[in-house]
Amino acid sequence: MRITIIGCGYVGLVTGGCLAAVGHHVTCVDNDAERIRALVAGQIPIYEPHLDELIARARSEGRIEFTGNLSGAIEAAEAIFICVGTPPLDNGEADLSAIDAVARVIATESRGSKLVIEKSTVPVRTGEQLRRALEVYGRAGKAKFEVVSNPEFLREGSSVLDFLHPDRIVVGVEEPAAADKMREIYRPILERKFACPVHSGGCPQGAPPQFFVTTINSSELIKHACNSFLALKISYANQLADLCERLGADVEEVTRAMGMDPRIGPQFLNAGIGFGGFCFPKDIQAFYRLAERAGMDFMLLQEAERINKDRIDHFVEKVKRSLWVLKGKQVGVLGLAFKPNTDDIRFAPALEILRRLLAEGASVRAYDPQGMKKTQAQFPTVTYCRDPYEVAAGADAVLLLTEWPEFRELDWQRVHNQMVRPLVLDGRNLLNPRRMRDLGFEYHSIGRPD
Ligand SMILES: NC(=O)c1ccc[n+]([C@@H]2O[C@H](COP(=O)([O-])OP(=O)(O)OC[C@H]3O[C@@H](n4cnc5c(N)ncnc54)[C@H](O)[C@@H]3O)[C@@H](O)[C@H]2O)c1
Repeated sequence: MRITIIGCGYVGLVTGGCLAAVGHHVTCVDNDAERIRALVAGQIPIYEPHLDELIARARSEGRIEFTGNLSGAIEAAEAIFICVGTPPLDNGEADLSAIDAVARVIATESRGSKLVIEKSTVPVRTGEQLRRALEVYGRAGKAKFEVVSNPEFLREGSSVLDFLHPDRIVVGVEEPAAADKMREIYRPILERKFACPVHSGGCPQGAPPQFFVTTINSSELIKHACNSFLALKISYANQLADLCERLGADVEEVTRAMGMDPRIGPQFLNAGIGFGGFCFPKDIQAFYRLAERAGMDFMLLQEAERINKDRIDHFVEKVKRSLWVLKGKQVGVLGLAFKPNTDDIRFAPALEILRRLLAEGASVRAYDPQGMKKTQAQFPTVTYCRDPYEVAAGADAVLLLTEWPEFRELDWQRVHNQMVRPLVLDGRNLLNPRRMRDLGFEYHSIGRPD
């Protein structure tokens, strides 16, 4: 099928790259001319494991192209995936202006019938508005539109795998015919009939993905409900961690045992400095604002968000308790991205901590395997280092803020030798407390006995 992807960010590039990899012909379009120039030149503007190989191969086989020509890309497409950003407005609601702008162009530039698929995360009833916008803006033409909601559940850092091997594909439609077309688009993935670019034939044999058809409203709500629930789980683990600190228990032991219960599950129970990224913080806000508009006070979500914001205060307090005065101290930061295996720093807790350290007069040296270039633009006064050992050199404290697995494997003895004061504050509970203390560190983590 000829597919157009509008928005070449994390979701757009993964969606486009994967749909091309399973055999579709994909045109990716964006209104950021610089981004398109880079993509046309073969550069992938984000870091995401496997994405560059995937796109390079699809491009060499003539199945993916990049353009800034939105009208042309719309004209040629049978199905259009809208993958533009839906950032938060000041009041927490989702900013849908990019969706509206795109709807206007789709409506005016389309000739035949088009399947218009919302892949961006949007509040319930956006599909209704989108259909109305397409009708209103396109009233002079003869194009016919079928609107579909198809929320994306990929996780940055493993998004190519998540897209090609999903647990479920949720499709919200008005008419069964639209669901059939979506099934056709996803058929290779549903039937696992594609040459997997990641596993080269040796894909894990789990249960096949569920193709779950709902109304558009339900489908839109499913995405917000999932992200908010996962955010709740993290905030729950974080409150438990605080309680463990007060009562002398170990949150890692508590959550590990909790996770053994299949009704609870082990994921998203990690205590730390809280969640960030382009999804959870904005989606939880958008969800309770949506509830508010519907006349409901979804306090549970507001509380989860408050707990998450407090994580930063809690951690910075710990740093201050250990260092006494921050002004004039040299603090090393390991990890900037909001999670490992991505260069995404949007709403990353590490950045808020960086901001506080600088505001208190500390000098900061930082390292992240992928997130430094993007951070540098926002924090030019930080010293960016080539490796963690450079971060540690002369440091009064090292803060571990993103759980990149390679930080676990560091030569911590070498880190110890480089530091002025061997103090480590582990905001992700990545390291083993006993081992760190045996090496002579003063080591503090989250919800584990000091
Ligand atoms: N990042 C994730 O992990 C993730 C996961 C699931 C869902 N989502 C949702 O998917 C959507 C996109 O997220 P993202 O992380 O890819 O965002 P992003 O900011 O990385 O990408 C959005 C892209 O859309 C482009 N764009 C904006 N307005 C445009 C317009 N009018 N015409 C053409 N292009 C336009 C931007 O230039 C940018 O390249 C959001 O709604 C997000 O909530 C994100």
